[in-house]
Amino acid sequence: MRRFLLFLVLVVMTGLRAATDEYRPLYHFSPKQNWTNDPNGLIFFRGDYNLFFQFNPFGDKWGHMSWGHAVSRDLIRWNELPVALHEEHGIMMFTGSTVFDEKNTSGLCNAGGCLVAIYTGHTPETKTSPALQTQNIADSNDGGRTWTKYSGNPVLNLHLTDFRDPKVFWSRAGDEWVMAVSLPNDHKVSFYGSKDLKSWKHLSDFGPAGATGGQWECPEIFELPVDLDTSQRKRFVLKVGLNPGSPQGGSGEQYFIGDFDGTRFKNGNPPGLTLLTDHGKDCYCALTFYNLPAGQETIMMGWMDNWDYAAELPTSPWRGQMTIPRTVGLRTTPAGVRLVQAPIPNLQKLRTEHIHFAGRSATALNQMLARSSIGASQTYEIESTVESGEASDAEWRVLVGSGSYTAIGYSHASKSIFVDRTRSGEVGFSPKFPTRTAARVQLDGGRLQFRILVDRNSVEVFSQNGEITLTNLVFPPRNAAGIELLSPDGAPIQADIWKLELK
Ligand code: FRU
Repeated sequence: MRRFLLFLVLVVMTGLRAATDEYRPLYHFSPKQNWTNDPNGLIFFRGDYNLFFQFNPFGDKWGHMSWGHAVSRDLIRWNELPVALHEEHGIMMFTGSTVFDEKNTSGLCNAGGCLVAIYTGHTPETKTSPALQTQNIADSNDGGRTWTKYSGNPVLNLHLTDFRDPKVFWSRAGDEWVMAVSLPNDHKVSFYGSKDLKSWKHLSDFGPAGATGGQWECPEIFELPVDLDTSQRKRFVLKVGLNPGSPQGGSGEQYFIGDFDGTRFKNGNPPGLTLLTDHGKDCYCALTFYNLPAGQETIMMGWMDNWDYAAELPTSPWRGQMTIPRTVGLRTTPAGVRLVQAPIPNLQKLRTEHIHFAGRSATALNQMLARSSIGASQTYEIESTVESGEASDAEWRVLVGSGSYTAIGYSHASKSIFVDRTRSGEVGFSPKFPTRTAARVQLDGGRLQFRILVDRNSVEVFSQNGEITLTNLVFPPRNAAGIELLSPDGAPIQADIWKLELK
């Protein structure tokens, strides 16, 4: 009898596991098990893209924060390695960045330079003392596999409870290392300078500006050409996370475009202007890869999640994942210079089964889609242009099951592009999950352009050639196999739909 019971328990557990594991994305990074949040220390080094990430080695809830580690050669297939940097002596490893100290400015490197991680050490509060956040460094002389924490840590201590997420880069203008680090409750990014990564002097503060809901976290700063024109002066993008209280609810991110002269960031836009990096609910604490080969486009990747419900996601044995890595650029638009994003080009190598449609009948396209097996894969990409004009609605429905679907479309009433996941499947685990997120848009000649990535439990939308992105998690039923377009009769449609597979 006891054996039978044990057998029953095992059968039920395996069933549960299969039911939740089905959400695990195919071409997005998620750890094999346990909790993850922000990407950390993204760096390209000797052929490897290194992804470190906030990780709990002991469970699927936030806690014991350490830096997990995965490497990839193509930014799609990730090889998860042992935890790189552990919580130690009661100090958690919070978010930070990694640089290549080629010239051994830190004195911590062997010949040829080393990687130096700059991170926040978080000491939780006790009955007698408040929490403490300080900036610390660690070095790796084997390409990020093993690390030694610096014996002189912390390298920056203001004795504050909230002071975190250092992003360090080499400033040519300042001829030194510069750290952008957040003062979350003041809605400020502080800049510090250093010649050796060990002693830091205060340079300036930026903020408050733009949106000031919740706390400011995860600052990131990088330089980009405008319109891919390298003869023009480059501009700096300063990105900062807002949590909670972002315009979409919970966690979200905004960016500023301006100049950094080695000491100070100057916002090129009015201080009241809020620009969002993503209009969905699930792109947070994005970082760019440091040390990319000269000439390669900047690549950014975020945590595809939201603190509103991150602890409740119905996945197991892992919880948390990253967005698709995106190339980022600056484009001149009628409204001014704006950040644009596109999935990394390598993603196209995953394209297999394909449908191409050019015509004026959504019904004809939908019949082709119904005959194909692309939808059933739940891992696919749609690229489309619908010329339905500004006075009509148009809408894609993906992951369509009986009574469930995720809608991606244009609403002429609100002049906005939206993603509606209120009927996307499993939505009841948090009242903050079933949402419709939207971004106002001026359609270019009435033309609605989409690139949509579907990967089992996520829908990432790049619209109007990457000027608007909406990133959202979804938890559809396994049999949600449909793809449909709703558009006015006679509107010209161009559509390509590919199944995406790891070959
Ligand atoms: C953002 C954040 C960071 C912090 C980390 C802790 O998601 O709150 O500010 O360093 O997560 O895990």
